[in-house]
Amino acid sequence: MDKLVIHGGNPLMGEVCISGAKNAAVAVLPATLLVDGTCRLENIPKIKDVLLICDILRSLGAKVTLEDDGAVEIDALALTYKSAPYELVGKMRASYYLIGAMLGRFNKAEVAMPGGCDLGPRPIDQHQKGFEALGAKTVVENGVIYAETEKLVGGNVYLDIVSVGATMNIMLAAVLAQGNTVIENAAKEPHIVDLANFLNAMGANIKGAGTDIIKIKGVSKLHGGVYSIIPDQIEAGTFMVAAAATRGDVLIKNVIPKHLESISSKLIEMGVTVEEFDDSVRVSCGKDKKLNPISVKTLPYPGFPTDMQPQMSVLLSVTKGTSMVSENVWDSRFQYVDELKRMGADIKVEGRVAVIEGVDTLSGAPVRSTDLRAGAGMVIAALIAKGTTEIYALHHIDRGYENMEGKFRALGADIERVSE
Ligand code: EPZ
Repeated sequence: MDKLVIHGGNPLMGEVCISGAKNAAVAVLPATLLVDGTCRLENIPKIKDVLLICDILRSLGAKVTLEDDGAVEIDALALTYKSAPYELVGKMRASYYLIGAMLGRFNKAEVAMPGGCDLGPRPIDQHQKGFEALGAKTVVENGVIYAETEKLVGGNVYLDIVSVGATMNIMLAAVLAQGNTVIENAAKEPHIVDLANFLNAMGANIKGAGTDIIKIKGVSKLHGGVYSIIPDQIEAGTFMVAAAATRGDVLIKNVIPKHLESISSKLIEMGVTVEEFDDSVRVSCGKDKKLNPISVKTLPYPGFPTDMQPQMSVLLSVTKGTSMVSENVWDSRFQYVDELKRMGADIKVEGRVAVIEGVDTLSGAPVRSTDLRAGAGMVIAALIAKGTTEIYALHHIDRGYENMEGKFRALGADIERVSE
């Protein structure tokens, strides 16, 4: 079992380059199942979730080659219909994109659903509603979702809840369906637009991605090609908050500043300096600068991302005054608060709201990463804490951050991974 050992107190200084977006990669990789030809995907992050999807695609019969420069080549032509193996699929929640992709390619899909969730219930009723609008019958039985139809035919879907996963999954099922599909109340996250751009680059006809209404005209086939994934909004945001929290000065490169606006604007409201350039942002905060407490509400894009909530709460935990954080996407995303309290934070959680009284400093302690972004929050907490923090359960962090400790170390953090 690995742990991170962090001696806090060093301000982060220098430059960091952001990797490709996890939540785009985990959708674009399964999308290659729909393509008649070879796809070369560039800027794919080297993270566990990506390796797992590549293994799943291989187990289904696709040829997958990972190259040293971060590109992945996939040829799924030889694929024949199979159910996705539970040992692999069960490890990863984003494996639900296989349903849309398999349904689009074979008119049927059988995918084991992962079990319980770190963030609260994770229903897939909106995904099912979408597949059914395209003519598929779906059923969840014994932990497996089955979807099947003679022929997919475009249809209209109004999502009851703005869901990233449902929006992308319906897009995957609809690109090769006969006729037109309209998704209303669609999610607008950057990775939705990235998936649409990838599919369009391979010959699909998708309009409106990034708005509430996505229109998809079915095409008869997709062709191979080269596509580069967008930079990771949340990895960039994590380094932005870490730079501010450690009172550092960091140039965060390979980002799309527009995707970071909700994060930048909250940091600016607190008094942090954020400068935007074409494809980088610089975040700096002097040691003696008094920061302001704020209110943060997580919302679907372009609102403040739920995936930045733990990292932001850590910064607010050492910001004098009372801050309020309300979580409006997931039922249970404050599990990390108990770990943070063990480091001296003063936070009260009531349902989906956390009231944070800023303390002068945190103190190092052994803590656990309770999920991926909570793990990122614990790392930031450790970087600012007095003394030594040991962070356990790193498999969460490894799922979604490429070389996190190496990147922080290059910025001057005293951070080491130790195998026990
Ligand atoms: C994606 O999850 C991300 N995961 C999550 O990131 C992120 O937190 C979330 O979007 C919100 O931005 C991936 O992209 C792989 P949703 P997703 O469907 O698609 C409810 C991370 O740390 N809902 O937008 O599964 C659901 O319960 C991860 O990188 C239904 O009720 O999220 C939730 O309350 C964690 N029925 C809300 O909608 C459904 O059918 C939003 O979920 C689907 C969702």
